[in-house]
Amino acid sequence: MMKKPFVAGNWKMNTDSHTSVRLADDIAAGCSQTAGRSFEVAVIPPFVYLQAVVRTLSASSIAVGAQDIYFEQKGAFTGEISAAMLKDVGCVYVLCGHSERRHILGETDRMVNRKVQAAISGGLLPIVCVGELLEERKAVQTDQVVKRQIKNGLDGLNDEKISAVTIAYEPVWAIGTGLTATPQQAQEVHALIRQMLAEMYDNQAAKEMRILYGGSVQPDNTAGLMAQQDIDGLLVGGASLKADDFLKIIQEAI
Ligand code: 13P
Repeated sequence: MMKKPFVAGNWKMNTDSHTSVRLADDIAAGCSQTAGRSFEVAVIPPFVYLQAVVRTLSASSIAVGAQDIYFEQKGAFTGEISAAMLKDVGCVYVLCGHSERRHILGETDRMVNRKVQAAISGGLLPIVCVGELLEERKAVQTDQVVKRQIKNGLDGLNDEKISAVTIAYEPVWAIGTGLTATPQQAQEVHALIRQMLAEMYDNQAAKEMRILYGGSVQPDNTAGLMAQQDIDGLLVGGASLKADDFLKIIQEAI
């Protein structure tokens, strides 16, 4: 059975109080007219607009996610946001270990793992992001890097907890650069991840896990990526900020 395609839009540090609501509204209106295979859509706005976007989407089936989480439950952690807070405002998903957090904010595999654990314990569904830098790809280290990120990021999760997880493969060199991995390049890494999951968990759990691709996804490269056996959906950055493009991507993906 084919998995339900999952398309998520990571708005990163974009939009404002007006445009976030408008974008959510336009996406909901477009999705309500989208007929065809069943599919799942999520939007991932900045923290400060989460509540407004959740409210805007309350009558739709679009889920809302957060871009980050802190792994402690509460207390003196100025500026941080807990799983309980995200759950309280209606989040379903949370990104863990996005490459911009790993490479700009210095998040380590260990921190990513603690975030994944905190998300699951708090009743959220983590989208765990992995991917290699350009120099790592050039040095033929892609497999090694992705394996390390998966192994460390999912450390300590049992067969039950893993069912809450979605993986996103986002090669860092393809993010926001207009350079997309070819469908074959993406499929190779997705197959490697699937193989690893099958080794770490029972095979059925690996088959059922969703592995998304992210990195310069656009309406015109969606179909080729989605045709790959191990690509179950897309994590879209720039193109998710324009309702028309995001809706075209959804249309192409289903
Ligand atoms: P772009 O689609 O802008 O390359 O961003 C991808 C991404 O980082 C999604 O999380």
